[in-house]
Amino acid sequence: MSVRVFAERAAAVRCVVDEIEALVRARAAAGHPCVLGLATGRTMEDVHAELVRRHRERGLSFASVHTVNLDEYWPVERGAPGSFGHAMHEQLFRHVDLPPDHILVPDGSVAERDVPERARAFEDAVAAWGGVDLQLLGIGRTGHLGFNEPGTPFDAPTRLVTLHETTRADAAATYPGEVPRHAITRGLGPILAARRVRLLAFGAAKASIVARALRRPMGVDVPASALRTHADALVLLDTAAAADLDDEAGDD
Ligand code: GLP
Repeated sequence: MSVRVFAERAAAVRCVVDEIEALVRARAAAGHPCVLGLATGRTMEDVHAELVRRHRERGLSFASVHTVNLDEYWPVERGAPGSFGHAMHEQLFRHVDLPPDHILVPDGSVAERDVPERARAFEDAVAAWGGVDLQLLGIGRTGHLGFNEPGTPFDAPTRLVTLHETTRADAAATYPGEVPRHAITRGLGPILAARRVRLLAFGAAKASIVARALRRPMGVDVPASALRTHADALVLLDTAAAADLDDEAGDD
């Protein structure tokens, strides 16, 4: 796993979007699709905005891109305000030429008894696309990836989960109404199956959990520490999020 620290978060965003743009263009030139694993949250808003800018100003086409989102609140109607499906549509999907049948977002309106079967079907669809080429990740203050909260085994499958109260409290700032107690999340197993994994974390509020994930013994108490088992993982931080790391990992 590599770590890069940037003086400005915008530079970290440009760096990861440069990589995505190069990957999408290379695949398209070779006549192959590109499968991107997408995430939500404040951190990703800037990434989505930069992807939209590249589409508008540099002609980056998403016609051959497939996207797989990490998670969705449960229960929530498809496209409801506050849902991750709604956020993705508003921030990215409606602004680019991504075909609607190339989009996978977990369905938070599924009945509880149907979740296991739908979760398997979701992962089957990702596999049919050839798996995720590049997975974008944020990190929650609990150390979660997607909504895999502390205690999650590193090989956990896609499933219904209960949200940590810290996660619900953080979401309350932007969620319209009471934050759901549950969510459907891709498991750490499927997340770590992506060929490349890129985690972004910005701001002082993330410094402590970033240091725990990267520098303390790896374990299920910090799900993001599982990234250290991945062969091609890169963590992009701003100076504030890197403040508790004990060494200098980079100086971009
Ligand atoms: C939510 C998402 C996570 C994301 C996290 C961080 O909990 N399920 O995938 O990493 O938010 O959000 P933010 O970028 O707003 O700090």
